[in-house]
Amino acid sequence: MLTREAAVEAIQSVMAAGYSAEGITFRDIMVRNRQVSLTVLDAGAAAQPALEAALRAALAPLGVETVHCRFRDEAAPAGGATQSPPASAAQPAGAAETGPVQGHGADLESPLLSSASGTTFIAVASGKGGVGKSTVTVNLAVALARKGKRVGIIDADIYGFSVPDMMGIEETPEIVNERIIPIERFGVKVISMGFFVEDNSPIVWRGPMLGKMIRNFFQEIAWGELDYMLLDLPPGTGDVALDVHQIIPHSKEIIVTTPHATAAFVAARAGAMAIKTEHEILGVVENMSYYVSKSGDKEYVFGRGGGGRLAETLHCNLLAQIPLGAPDNHISEPDFSPSVYKEDSETGQLYMELAENVLRRCQEPLTK
Ligand SMILES: Nc1ncnc2c1ncn2[C@@H]1O[C@H](COP(=O)(O)OP(=O)(O)O)[C@@H](O)[C@H]1O
Ligand SMILES: [Mg+2]
Repeated sequence: MLTREAAVEAIQSVMAAGYSAEGITFRDIMVRNRQVSLTVLDAGAAAQPALEAALRAALAPLGVETVHCRFRDEAAPAGGATQSPPASAAQPAGAAETGPVQGHGADLESPLLSSASGTTFIAVASGKGGVGKSTVTVNLAVALARKGKRVGIIDADIYGFSVPDMMGIEETPEIVNERIIPIERFGVKVISMGFFVEDNSPIVWRGPMLGKMIRNFFQEIAWGELDYMLLDLPPGTGDVALDVHQIIPHSKEIIVTTPHATAAFVAARAGAMAIKTEHEILGVVENMSYYVSKSGDKEYVFGRGGGGRLAETLHCNLLAQIPLGAPDNHISEPDFSPSVYKEDSETGQLYMELAENVLRRCQEPLTK
Protein backbone atom coordinates (compact mmCIF):
# COMPACT_ATOMS: atom_id res chain seq x y z
CA MET A 1 0.00 0.00 0.00
CA LEU A 2 1.19 3.44 -0.91
CA THR A 3 1.38 5.54 2.23
CA ARG A 4 1.74 9.26 2.55
CA GLU A 5 4.85 8.78 4.71
CA ALA A 6 6.57 6.74 2.00
CA ALA A 7 5.71 9.37 -0.63
CA VAL A 8 6.97 12.19 1.59
CA GLU A 9 10.18 10.31 2.18
CA ALA A 10 10.74 9.76 -1.54
CA ILE A 11 10.04 13.43 -2.28
CA GLN A 12 12.37 14.50 0.50
CA SER A 13 15.15 12.36 -0.90
CA VAL A 14 14.75 13.99 -4.32
CA MET A 15 14.86 17.42 -2.74
CA ALA A 16 17.89 16.56 -0.67
CA ALA A 17 19.72 15.51 -3.83
CA GLY A 18 20.32 19.11 -4.82
CA TYR A 19 17.03 20.94 -4.98
CA SER A 20 16.74 22.07 -1.34
CA ALA A 21 20.14 23.68 -1.67
CA GLU A 22 18.70 25.91 -4.39
CA GLY A 23 15.96 27.11 -2.07
CA ILE A 24 13.28 24.91 -3.59
CA THR A 25 10.71 23.73 -1.07
CA PHE A 26 7.46 21.83 -1.25
CA ARG A 27 4.21 21.50 0.62
CA ASP A 28 0.66 20.13 0.45
CA ILE A 29 1.46 16.59 -0.48
CA MET A 30 -1.68 14.70 -1.35
CA VAL A 31 -1.69 10.99 -1.81
CA ARG A 32 -4.78 9.38 -3.18
CA ASN A 33 -5.04 6.04 -4.90
CA ARG A 34 -2.01 5.98 -7.14
CA GLN A 35 -1.78 9.72 -7.52
CA VAL A 36 0.48 12.15 -5.75
CA SER A 37 0.07 15.90 -5.98
CA LEU A 38 2.20 18.54 -4.36
CA THR A 39 3.04 22.22 -4.54
CA VAL A 40 6.65 23.03 -5.34
CA LEU A 41 7.82 26.48 -4.35
CA ASP A 42 10.46 28.56 -6.06
CA ALA A 43 11.61 26.10 -8.68
CA GLY A 44 12.63 28.20 -11.70
CA ALA A 45 11.20 27.27 -15.10
CA ALA A 46 14.53 25.75 -16.10
CA ALA A 47 14.59 23.37 -13.14
CA GLN A 48 11.00 22.23 -13.37
CA PRO A 49 11.06 19.47 -16.02
CA ALA A 50 14.03 17.71 -14.44
CA LEU A 51 12.54 18.01 -10.97
CA GLU A 52 9.24 16.60 -12.13
CA ALA A 53 10.99 13.72 -13.87
CA ALA A 54 13.08 13.02 -10.75
CA LEU A 55 9.93 12.97 -8.59
CA ARG A 56 8.22 10.57 -11.01
CA ALA A 57 11.25 8.31 -11.01
CA ALA A 58 11.46 8.30 -7.21
CA LEU A 59 7.74 7.69 -6.71
CA ALA A 60 7.17 5.10 -9.44
CA PRO A 61 8.73 2.24 -7.43
CA LEU A 62 6.14 2.92 -4.72
CA GLY A 63 3.37 2.29 -7.23
CA VAL A 64 2.60 5.93 -8.02
CA GLU A 65 1.12 6.32 -11.48
CA THR A 66 0.70 10.07 -11.75
CA VAL A 67 2.54 12.94 -10.14
CA HIS A 68 0.98 16.36 -10.33
CA CYS A 69 3.26 19.27 -9.43
CA ARG A 70 1.94 22.75 -9.01
CA PHE A 71 4.82 25.18 -9.34
CA ARG A 72 4.55 28.43 -7.50
CA ASP A 73 6.93 31.27 -6.92
CA GLU A 74 6.85 32.69 -3.47
CA ALA A 75 9.88 34.50 -2.17
CA ALA A 76 10.84 32.95 1.14
CA PRO A 77 10.40 35.29 4.07
CA ALA A 78 13.29 36.20 6.33
CA GLY A 79 13.27 33.70 9.16
CA GLY A 80 10.67 31.61 7.40
CA ALA A 81 7.92 32.44 9.88
CA THR A 82 4.28 32.84 9.07
CA GLN A 83 3.01 36.40 9.16
CA SER A 84 0.85 37.31 12.09
CA PRO A 85 -2.81 37.28 11.19
CA PRO A 86 -3.55 40.98 11.51
CA ALA A 87 -0.64 41.86 9.27
CA SER A 88 -1.50 39.38 6.58
CA ALA A 89 -5.19 39.79 6.98
CA ALA A 90 -5.64 43.52 7.31
CA GLN A 91 -3.65 44.40 4.23
CA PRO A 92 -4.45 41.96 1.50
CA ALA A 93 -2.51 44.06 -0.96
CA GLY A 94 0.60 43.27 1.06
CA ALA A 95 -0.26 39.62 1.26
CA ALA A 96 1.82 39.00 -1.83
CA GLU A 97 4.91 39.81 0.17
CA THR A 98 4.05 37.70 3.17
CA GLY A 99 5.91 34.47 3.15
CA PRO A 100 4.51 31.10 2.41
CA VAL A 101 4.12 28.67 5.19
CA GLN A 102 7.22 26.60 4.78
CA GLY A 103 7.72 22.93 5.15
CA HIS A 104 5.41 20.17 4.11
CA GLY A 105 1.83 19.23 4.77
CA ALA A 106 2.18 17.44 8.06
CA ASP A 107 3.84 20.38 9.77
CA LEU A 108 1.09 22.81 8.97
CA GLU A 109 -1.95 20.98 9.98
CA SER A 110 -4.22 23.03 12.14
CA PRO A 111 -6.20 21.04 14.69
CA LEU A 112 -9.35 21.55 12.64
CA LEU A 113 -7.78 19.99 9.57
CA SER A 114 -6.29 16.96 11.29
CA SER A 115 -8.15 13.77 10.63
CA ALA A 116 -8.81 13.44 14.36
CA SER A 117 -10.78 16.68 14.53
CA GLY A 118 -14.07 15.13 13.50
CA THR A 119 -15.00 18.29 11.59
CA THR A 120 -16.89 17.70 8.36
CA PHE A 121 -16.02 20.21 5.67
CA ILE A 122 -18.59 21.15 3.09
CA ALA A 123 -17.61 23.43 0.24
CA VAL A 124 -20.55 25.17 -1.40
CA ALA A 125 -19.88 25.74 -5.08
CA SER A 126 -21.71 27.12 -8.10
CA GLY A 127 -20.96 27.61 -11.75
CA LYS A 128 -21.72 31.29 -11.74
CA GLY A 129 -22.47 34.07 -9.30
CA GLY A 130 -25.90 35.27 -8.29
CA VAL A 131 -27.53 31.87 -8.01
CA GLY A 132 -27.77 32.00 -4.22
CA LYS A 133 -24.63 30.16 -3.18
CA SER A 134 -24.06 32.44 -0.19
CA THR A 135 -27.74 32.46 0.75
CA VAL A 136 -27.75 28.67 0.79
CA THR A 137 -24.46 28.50 2.72
CA VAL A 138 -25.72 30.86 5.42
CA ASN A 139 -29.13 29.26 5.80
CA LEU A 140 -27.79 25.72 5.79
CA ALA A 141 -25.25 26.71 8.45
CA VAL A 142 -27.95 28.28 10.62
CA ALA A 143 -30.21 25.24 10.14
CA LEU A 144 -27.37 22.89 11.20
CA ALA A 145 -26.82 25.08 14.27
CA ARG A 146 -30.56 24.93 15.02
CA LYS A 147 -30.14 21.16 14.98
CA GLY A 148 -27.57 21.51 17.73
CA LYS A 149 -24.43 21.21 15.62
CA ARG A 150 -21.33 23.35 16.13
CA VAL A 151 -20.95 25.14 12.84
CA GLY A 152 -18.51 27.53 11.20
CA ILE A 153 -18.53 29.40 7.91
CA ILE A 154 -15.51 30.52 5.96
CA ASP A 155 -16.61 33.13 3.46
CA ALA A 156 -13.87 32.58 0.91
CA ASP A 157 -15.64 34.25 -1.99
CA ILE A 158 -13.00 36.86 -2.57
CA TYR A 159 -14.83 38.40 -5.48
CA GLY A 160 -18.03 38.96 -3.62
CA PHE A 161 -17.83 38.21 0.09
CA SER A 162 -21.33 38.77 1.32
CA VAL A 163 -21.81 36.55 4.35
CA PRO A 164 -21.36 39.33 6.96
CA ASP A 165 -23.97 41.50 5.26
CA MET A 166 -26.35 38.60 4.83
CA MET A 167 -26.13 37.70 8.50
CA GLY A 168 -26.32 41.31 9.62
CA ILE A 169 -22.81 41.28 11.07
CA GLU A 170 -21.41 44.76 11.52
CA GLU A 171 -18.59 44.16 13.97
CA THR A 172 -15.12 42.94 13.08
CA PRO A 173 -13.37 40.12 14.91
CA GLU A 174 -11.27 40.68 18.01
CA ILE A 175 -7.78 39.34 18.37
CA VAL A 176 -6.98 37.54 21.59
CA ASN A 177 -3.55 36.04 22.20
CA GLU A 178 -2.68 36.62 18.56
CA ARG A 179 -5.60 34.54 17.42
CA ILE A 180 -8.65 35.90 15.61
CA ILE A 181 -11.97 35.18 17.29
CA PRO A 182 -14.69 34.44 14.75
CA ILE A 183 -17.93 36.40 14.99
CA GLU A 184 -20.80 34.30 16.24
CA ARG A 185 -24.26 34.91 14.85
CA PHE A 186 -27.34 32.65 15.11
CA GLY A 187 -25.07 30.01 16.63
CA VAL A 188 -22.68 30.01 13.68
CA LYS A 189 -19.03 31.12 13.83
CA VAL A 190 -18.17 33.27 10.86
CA ILE A 191 -14.95 34.41 9.25
CA SER A 192 -15.07 36.38 6.05
CA MET A 193 -12.60 37.92 3.67
CA GLY A 194 -14.79 40.97 4.12
CA PHE A 195 -13.54 41.42 7.72
CA PHE A 196 -10.05 42.04 6.45
CA VAL A 197 -10.65 44.37 3.57
CA GLU A 198 -10.75 48.05 4.28
CA ASP A 199 -13.54 50.15 2.82
CA ASN A 200 -14.83 47.25 0.80
CA SER A 201 -12.12 48.03 -1.73
CA PRO A 202 -11.95 45.60 -4.60
CA ILE A 203 -8.79 43.59 -4.64
CA VAL A 204 -7.14 41.62 -7.31
CA TRP A 205 -6.44 38.26 -5.79
CA ARG A 206 -4.20 35.78 -7.37
CA GLY A 207 -4.61 32.11 -6.74
CA PRO A 208 -1.57 31.72 -4.49
CA MET A 209 -2.70 34.58 -2.27
CA LEU A 210 -6.09 33.05 -1.87
CA GLY A 211 -4.60 29.69 -0.96
CA LYS A 212 -2.55 31.46 1.66
CA MET A 213 -5.56 33.24 3.08
CA ILE A 214 -7.55 30.04 3.32
CA ARG A 215 -4.62 28.41 5.04
CA ASN A 216 -4.45 31.33 7.46
CA PHE A 217 -8.15 30.97 8.11
CA PHE A 218 -7.46 27.56 9.51
CA GLN A 219 -4.28 28.22 11.39
CA GLU A 220 -4.82 31.62 12.88
CA ILE A 221 -8.46 31.59 13.81
CA ALA A 222 -9.66 30.35 17.19
CA TRP A 223 -12.43 28.13 15.84
CA GLY A 224 -12.64 25.83 18.81
CA GLU A 225 -14.28 22.50 18.09
CA LEU A 226 -16.66 22.32 15.16
CA ASP A 227 -18.89 19.59 13.77
CA TYR A 228 -19.38 21.27 10.40
CA MET A 229 -17.39 23.87 8.52
CA LEU A 230 -19.03 25.36 5.45
CA LEU A 231 -16.96 27.12 2.82
CA ASP A 232 -18.54 29.70 0.54
CA LEU A 233 -16.29 29.42 -2.50
CA PRO A 234 -15.95 31.88 -5.37
CA PRO A 235 -18.14 30.90 -8.31
CA GLY A 236 -16.65 28.86 -11.11
CA THR A 237 -13.80 26.43 -11.12
CA GLY A 238 -10.08 26.68 -11.28
CA ASP A 239 -7.25 27.40 -8.93
CA VAL A 240 -9.47 27.93 -5.92
CA ALA A 241 -11.07 24.52 -6.25
CA LEU A 242 -7.59 23.02 -6.48
CA ASP A 243 -6.46 24.96 -3.43
CA VAL A 244 -9.37 23.69 -1.42
CA HIS A 245 -8.67 20.22 -2.70
CA GLN A 246 -5.09 20.40 -1.51
CA ILE A 247 -5.79 22.03 1.81
CA ILE A 248 -8.91 20.01 2.60
CA PRO A 249 -8.72 16.82 0.56
CA HIS A 250 -11.59 15.27 2.50
CA SER A 251 -14.00 18.16 1.87
CA LYS A 252 -17.44 17.33 0.57
CA GLU A 253 -19.33 19.57 -1.83
CA ILE A 254 -22.77 20.94 -2.44
CA ILE A 255 -23.49 22.48 -5.84
CA VAL A 256 -26.03 25.30 -6.02
CA THR A 257 -27.90 26.16 -9.21
CA THR A 258 -31.11 27.83 -10.33
CA PRO A 259 -33.67 25.83 -12.32
CA HIS A 260 -32.58 27.59 -15.49
CA ALA A 261 -31.03 25.23 -18.03
CA THR A 262 -28.02 27.47 -18.71
CA ALA A 263 -27.27 27.89 -15.01
CA ALA A 264 -27.44 24.16 -14.50
CA PHE A 265 -25.16 23.58 -17.47
CA VAL A 266 -22.58 26.00 -16.09
CA ALA A 267 -22.91 24.45 -12.64
CA ALA A 268 -22.11 21.05 -14.14
CA ARG A 269 -18.59 22.32 -14.70
CA ALA A 270 -18.19 23.06 -11.00
CA GLY A 271 -19.50 19.57 -10.36
CA ALA A 272 -17.07 18.07 -12.84
CA MET A 273 -14.26 19.79 -10.95
CA ALA A 274 -15.48 18.24 -7.71
CA ILE A 275 -15.45 14.83 -9.33
CA LYS A 276 -11.98 15.39 -10.77
CA THR A 277 -10.60 16.36 -7.38
CA GLU A 278 -12.43 13.41 -5.82
CA HIS A 279 -14.51 15.56 -3.54
CA GLU A 280 -17.63 13.70 -2.63
CA ILE A 281 -20.66 15.58 -3.93
CA LEU A 282 -23.36 15.53 -1.27
CA GLY A 283 -25.89 16.75 -3.79
CA VAL A 284 -27.44 19.66 -5.63
CA VAL A 285 -29.50 22.47 -4.13
CA GLU A 286 -31.81 24.18 -6.59
CA ASN A 287 -32.45 27.76 -5.50
CA MET A 288 -35.09 30.20 -6.76
CA SER A 289 -37.00 27.12 -7.90
CA TYR A 290 -40.44 28.71 -7.92
CA TYR A 291 -42.47 31.57 -6.59
CA VAL A 292 -45.57 30.99 -4.53
CA SER A 293 -48.23 33.37 -5.80
CA LYS A 294 -50.90 34.94 -3.60
CA SER A 295 -53.32 32.24 -4.65
CA GLY A 296 -50.84 29.64 -3.41
CA ASP A 297 -49.82 28.37 -6.84
CA LYS A 298 -46.21 27.70 -7.69
CA GLU A 299 -44.94 29.80 -10.55
CA TYR A 300 -41.76 28.59 -12.18
CA VAL A 301 -40.36 31.96 -13.16
CA PHE A 302 -36.82 30.79 -13.89
CA GLY A 303 -37.75 27.65 -15.77
CA ARG A 304 -37.93 24.18 -14.41
CA GLY A 305 -35.87 21.07 -13.95
CA GLY A 306 -32.30 22.47 -13.97
CA GLY A 307 -31.46 21.13 -10.50
CA GLY A 308 -32.83 17.67 -11.21
CA ARG A 309 -30.96 17.38 -14.48
CA LEU A 310 -27.75 18.59 -12.89
CA ALA A 311 -28.10 15.99 -10.12
CA GLU A 312 -28.56 13.32 -12.78
CA THR A 313 -25.50 14.50 -14.68
CA LEU A 314 -23.42 14.41 -11.51
CA HIS A 315 -24.92 11.13 -10.30
CA CYS A 316 -26.04 12.62 -7.04
CA ASN A 317 -29.28 13.68 -5.42
CA LEU A 318 -31.29 16.86 -5.57
CA LEU A 319 -31.15 17.77 -1.88
CA ALA A 320 -33.60 20.67 -1.82
CA GLN A 321 -35.62 23.07 -3.93
CA ILE A 322 -35.77 26.49 -2.33
CA PRO A 323 -38.39 28.96 -3.56
CA LEU A 324 -37.96 32.63 -4.22
CA GLY A 325 -38.29 33.99 -0.74
CA ALA A 326 -40.59 36.55 0.73
CA PRO A 327 -38.56 39.09 2.72
CA ASP A 328 -40.98 38.98 5.67
CA ASN A 329 -39.71 35.48 6.33
CA HIS A 330 -36.34 36.80 7.34
CA ILE A 331 -35.20 37.33 10.88
CA SER A 332 -35.62 40.85 12.17
CA GLU A 333 -35.60 40.42 15.97
CA PRO A 334 -33.49 40.56 18.06
CA ASP A 335 -30.75 40.57 15.43
CA PHE A 336 -31.56 41.83 12.00
CA SER A 337 -30.53 39.62 9.12
CA PRO A 338 -31.63 40.29 5.58
CA SER A 339 -31.03 36.75 4.39
CA VAL A 340 -31.53 34.28 7.25
CA TYR A 341 -34.97 32.72 7.27
CA LYS A 342 -36.94 32.33 10.48
CA GLU A 343 -37.04 28.74 11.61
CA ASP A 344 -40.82 28.56 11.48
CA SER A 345 -41.17 30.09 8.02
CA GLU A 346 -41.84 27.78 5.08
CA THR A 347 -38.39 28.32 3.64
CA GLY A 348 -36.87 28.03 7.12
CA GLN A 349 -38.44 24.57 7.31
CA LEU A 350 -37.09 23.63 3.88
CA TYR A 351 -33.62 24.53 5.14
CA MET A 352 -34.20 22.35 8.23
CA GLU A 353 -35.03 19.47 5.86
CA LEU A 354 -31.93 20.24 3.82
CA ALA A 355 -29.87 20.15 7.04
CA GLU A 356 -31.38 16.76 7.95
CA ASN A 357 -30.58 15.49 4.48
CA VAL A 358 -27.00 16.70 4.77
CA LEU A 359 -26.56 15.20 8.24
CA ARG A 360 -27.86 11.87 7.01
CA ARG A 361 -25.51 11.89 4.05
CA CYS A 362 -22.51 12.86 6.13
CA GLN A 363 -23.07 10.13 8.65
CA GLU A 364 -23.46 7.35 6.14
CA PRO A 365 -21.12 6.37 3.37
CA LEU A 366 -22.69 7.82 0.27
CA THR A 367 -24.31 5.74 -2.40
CA LYS A 368 -26.93 7.16 -4.62
N1 LIG B 1 -34.40 31.98 -2.77
C1 LIG B 1 -34.21 33.28 -2.92
N2 LIG B 1 -35.24 34.14 -2.97
C2 LIG B 1 -35.06 35.45 -3.14
N3 LIG B 1 -33.87 36.04 -3.28
C3 LIG B 1 -32.79 35.26 -3.24
C4 LIG B 1 -32.89 33.85 -3.05
N4 LIG B 1 -31.65 33.33 -3.04
C5 LIG B 1 -30.80 34.38 -3.22
N5 LIG B 1 -31.49 35.52 -3.34
C6 LIG B 1 -30.91 36.86 -3.57
O1 LIG B 1 -30.22 36.82 -4.81
C7 LIG B 1 -29.01 37.53 -4.73
C8 LIG B 1 -27.82 36.60 -5.02
O2 LIG B 1 -27.74 35.63 -4.00
P1 LIG B 1 -26.34 35.21 -3.36
O3 LIG B 1 -26.61 34.24 -2.29
O4 LIG B 1 -25.55 36.42 -3.02
O5 LIG B 1 -25.72 34.48 -4.63
P2 LIG B 1 -24.21 34.01 -4.93
O6 LIG B 1 -23.53 33.82 -3.61
O7 LIG B 1 -24.40 32.75 -5.71
O8 LIG B 1 -23.60 35.09 -5.75
C9 LIG B 1 -28.95 38.14 -3.33
O9 LIG B 1 -29.44 39.44 -3.38
C10 LIG B 1 -29.89 37.24 -2.53
O10 LIG B 1 -30.47 37.93 -1.45
MG1 LIG C 1 -21.94 34.85 -2.83
